[in-house]
Parts: sequence; structure tokens; C-alpha cells
Amino acid sequence: MTVPIVVCGAAGRMGRAITRLVHDNPETRLHAAIEGAGNAAVGSDAGTLAGIGEIGIEVGDDYAAVAEPETVALDFTVPEASLAHLRIAAERGAGIAIGTTGLDPDQLAELRRLAPQTRVVFAPNMSVGVNVLLKLVESAAATLNEGFDPEIVEMHHRNKVDAPSGTALALGRAVASGSGRDFDETAVLAREGMVGARTDQEIGIMTLRGGDVVGDHTVIFAGLGERIELTHRASNRDCLARGAVRAGIWLGKRDRGLYSMADVLGL
Ligand SMILES: NC(=O)c1ccc[n+]([C@@H]2O[C@H](COP(=O)([O-])OP(=O)(O)OC[C@H]3O[C@@H](n4cnc5c(N)ncnc54)[C@H](OP(=O)(O)O)[C@@H]3O)[C@@H](O)[C@H]2O)c1
Repeated sequence: MTVPIVVCGAAGRMGRAITRLVHDNPETRLHAAIEGAGNAAVGSDAGTLAGIGEIGIEVGDDYAAVAEPETVALDFTVPEASLAHLRIAAERGAGIAIGTTGLDPDQLAELRRLAPQTRVVFAPNMSVGVNVLLKLVESAAATLNEGFDPEIVEMHHRNKVDAPSGTALALGRAVASGSGRDFDETAVLAREGMVGARTDQEIGIMTLRGGDVVGDHTVIFAGLGERIELTHRASNRDCLARGAVRAGIWLGKRDRGLYSMADVLGL
């Protein structure tokens, strides 16, 4: 049985890649494509928008009208829209995988409160490679706790609106969890001026922006006389979109609950 997918943010960079992959995947079918009200893409054909030619599905602006219980939404939009979609999905019992980043603490709290009412995957990065990196970093941080300073560097394209990336924050949390630190107390998201020497407990996360970089993340464990660097580079969006489609297929068969990509991938 194919999983009926609703692409939320259908005109976006991720939305278009996901539409293409959902259309090509024998385990999924495009149920609907949604954009924000007023977006120029509303009313156009979702396939044409995604560069695969007409597929007979018009981009709409009303997720509530298409959120049947058996559907799974793949949502890569903006935090307010993802939360609005989650409220509808929770009410209807529809599945939703949210990849949107930049949710503030209140929005994250609402997500955690609503998610158990339906089946939800929430992941700041849906690529298989990054999720394996998260595991490696957590385990490296446990071993390199003494004498190694963890620093994270991320680079994304010039149009990314939130910083640091959700993935960089997740990597920071993986360092914290592996090394027994409290992330919120030890994360340093910028340095400028006379900040003083680095403390042992800091987890530095630095942001670069420019060009069309899809997403580079490096976690550095800097010791005395040696340094370990674990790097993931995404060379196109398809690795992220493929992970999203994989999450959608996985959610199609799941009970209610809030899941991560580690759950989806069995890591
Ligand atoms: N988890 C992951 O693996 C992953 C991977 C890549 C990106 N992301 C995150 O996913 C989000 C989207 O990234 P992107 O690069 O695809 O951005 P994008 O190109 O700006 O796409 C976002 C799309 O969502 C639309 N949108 C805004 N409000 C909406 C609403 N109420 N209903 C439906 N659609 C709405 C936007 O329309 P307008 O232009 O009209 O606002 C835009 O077309 C970002 O938060 C990004 O950081 C996550």
C-alpha cells in the first residue's frame, strides 16, 4: 500500500525536491501539495513546480482540507506554519514529519505537547549521513571528555534565515549528551571581542553563510598536539529529501508518538 503524502512548503527548495522523490517512489503517492496563502505557486501544478512536468495535483493553501488520518505530511516551511500544520494533524490523527528548523523554546514546547496526539517525526536534519554523524559524535564526546575541546563549524547557503543551523545545535546536544554537559549552560554560539580564554566546558558553535552551500558540518575535538575532525557535507538537497520521504513511509505504519530520525533509521 502506498503512503499518501502531503508536501507542505511545496514551492520551497525542499518541497520541490520532495515532490519529485515522492512522485518517483513506488511506496508513496502525492496526495496534496500545500503552500502559504498568497504564495504565487498556489493554483499551479505541483509537478511543473518541481520540474517533473504536469502531474495533475494543484498546489493548495489549506492543509486542513487534505489532512486525512492516513496521510503523512512532509513539512519544510517556517516554524509558525509547521506548528499550525501540527495542530491540524494532531486533531485529525494524520502523520506529520517536520523538518523545519529555527523553532523557539515556546514552539518546541508546543510541539512536544501536541506530538503524542498523533504520529510525528521531528528532525532538524533528515539525511542518513548526518544522523550517523550524530551517533559518532555522541560516542566520541564520551571518550574525549578530558583534554579535548569540542567546537562545531557549520556553513550554509546565503538564503538560510536561522543560525546556527538546527543540525549544528543537534550536534552540540550530542556532544553535551556524550560528555555529560548541560548544553544550554555550556553552548557558546558566537565569540567577539575580549571574551577571555576558552573554558573546559564550552561547546563552541560557529556559523558561516554564503553562496549555494547545501550544508557542511564539522565537529572538532581539539586536544594538545592532536585534533579529530568529523565532517559531513551535503552536496545536494536530495539526501535530505530522501530522508524525509523515508520518514514519511516509516510514519505511515507507526503508532502515535514523537519520533526522531534515529528511530526512523533504527540507530
Ligand atoms: N530537517 C532537514 O533535513 C532540513 C533540510 C533542509 C531544510 N530544512 C529546513 O526546512 C525549512 C525550509 O527550508 P527550505 O530551504 O525548503 O526553505 P524555502 O525554500 O524558503 O521553503 C519554505 C517554503 O515554505 C513556504 N511556506 C511558508 N509559510 C507556509 C505555510 N503557512 N504553509 C505552507 N507553506 C508555507 C514558503 O513560502 P513563502 O516563500 O511564500 O514564505 C516556502 O515556499 C527551513 O527551516 C530549513 O532550515 C530542514
